[in-house]
Amino acid sequence: MSEGISKKEQALGRFRAHNGLFSCPVCESTLVTVDSQASLCCENNHCFDLARKGYLNLFLGSQNSQYDKALFSARQKVFAAGIYDPLVSAVAEWIERRGVEAPCILDAGCGEGSLSAMLSAQLGSPVLVGLDIARDGITLATSHQAPVMWLVADLARLPLTSASLDVVLNVLSPANYAEFSRVLKPGGVVIKVLPGEDYLAEIRDRLPGVAAYSNDEVLGKFQDKMEIEDRLHLHYRAQMTDELWKAMVQMTPLSQNRKVQGEIPRSVTIDLHVLEGTVV
Ligand SMILES: C[S@@+](CC[C@H](N)C(=O)[O-])C[C@H]1O[C@@H](n2cnc3c(N)ncnc32)[C@H](O)[C@@H]1O
Ligand SMILES: [Zn+2]
Repeated sequence: MSEGISKKEQALGRFRAHNGLFSCPVCESTLVTVDSQASLCCENNHCFDLARKGYLNLFLGSQNSQYDKALFSARQKVFAAGIYDPLVSAVAEWIERRGVEAPCILDAGCGEGSLSAMLSAQLGSPVLVGLDIARDGITLATSHQAPVMWLVADLARLPLTSASLDVVLNVLSPANYAEFSRVLKPGGVVIKVLPGEDYLAEIRDRLPGVAAYSNDEVLGKFQDKMEIEDRLHLHYRAQMTDELWKAMVQMTPLSQNRKVQGEIPRSVTIDLHVLEGTVV
């Protein structure tokens, strides 16, 4: 990365290049960068300063996240170990096949940002926005070198202008299809990733009191709100080391306030459904 330029200046440059994409969380007017104060302001003078680490906080409420720093940092280790590489490649392929040059992509509920960062490296020159309500996640996301615009914001009230995006990614996170539909350009798609029933089965089996998972409700909601264009089932086993197992356990809220019992398994099941949908 360019030496001598701070993270905040680099981020300001990225946001400046996309003036018109972001909207004010107070009054919904378009935000534009104000270089002298490294902030984005709307015509009604609501201003939001870029944080020193280079993210923008457009969330007005108070957070009460079940996700903390330790969880996000464990998740970053798991991505770095390549556990989700098949998912990243599949999503990149689906975005590429659309044939849009420099597609504008929102990762809604991006957590600590590994998926966005990896996609940024795999795709030609995407315009990527990583958004999460958890500031701890977004703070960690700024540690990636990828040229992603990081936002703390609520995906149920997206601070993005209407009809501005080619793709909304929504990976293992809550969804708001009304908002996703509003921000998509005509013909744009939502790519949603949801767990299958075997996802992390070896962790669930070792946590007393954790019930079997069913994705019926999440899938039903997607089918109600979107027209499914394509689907893919990724089902594979990831080999474990002691250290990776520790991170796998720590990266899931399932293990909060519970102790894992039994031996370390040799592998863990990754079972994910990838759906592509257009607005009904
Ligand atoms: C299981 S994590 C998945 C994170 C990331 N997509 C990944 O796969 O590593 C779910 C994420 O959704 C975020 N989230 C939950 N509610 C949200 C909301 N209303 N707006 C934005 N993000 C939200 C959480 O903070 C968390 O980072
Ligand atoms: Zn405003």
